[in-house]
Amino acid sequence: MEPIDDVMQLFRHQRAVRAWSDRPVSDDVLRQVLEAAIHGPSGSNSQPWRFLVIRDQAVKEQVSALYEEAMAEQYQGAEPDRARDRQTLADAPVLIVPLVRVPGNGRAGFQTGASIYPACQNLMLAARSLGLGTVLSTLHRLRKAQIHEVLRIPEGWESAAIIPLGYPDRNYGPNKRRPVEEFIVYDRFPEPEAS
Ligand SMILES: Cc1cc2nc3c(=O)[nH]c(=O)nc-3n(C[C@H](O)[C@H](O)[C@H](O)COP(=O)(O)O)c2cc1C
Repeated sequence: MEPIDDVMQLFRHQRAVRAWSDRPVSDDVLRQVLEAAIHGPSGSNSQPWRFLVIRDQAVKEQVSALYEEAMAEQYQGAEPDRARDRQTLADAPVLIVPLVRVPGNGRAGFQTGASIYPACQNLMLAARSLGLGTVLSTLHRLRKAQIHEVLRIPEGWESAAIIPLGYPDRNYGPNKRRPVEEFIVYDRFPEPEAS
């Protein structure tokens, strides 16, 4: 895919990429996308994150096998989807696992997620601007305990996603979204109609 400078074009061409070319990802490019991530916002600017970067093939394969179990569980009996079903995390040159520190009560909730997903989006947009592909995947959470064990993720951290990163197998067109008007409510919702 071509790099993109124009920011509105960037939003429109941000796609879920699940298949990869053999082109390696340099340390410099990796550093740029991680730098973008850590400029994301977080509650009170607490920056409660770590980014686990997996390049080791054996580790990728262990994570990938668990992810495939999660996919099989999630989609059993569902309509086949080629892009989704044939994805193999181990094929991606890099896997990034964004981690977020869980609050003192040990329960991660909406606000915990709100301090990591903006960083993920920064990372993915930066990657796309450089001509790389990513996909935010959260299905791994169905095998969270096993994946945390493989990655030796310490207590007190949640894995918000697994984001494979690499140069895509092909060119991807713009994303398809419904018109923006469908999603906007001005001022407040209309009063319910009297019955
Ligand atoms: C919260 C969230 C969780 C997602 N989890 C997965 C996942 O586990 N596996 C996967 O392949 N894609 C996952 N996706 C990617 C979505 O399927 C993708 O963003 C959506 O279909 C739009 O794709 P497009 O931007 O190419 O149109 C997830 C996306 C979001 C926002």
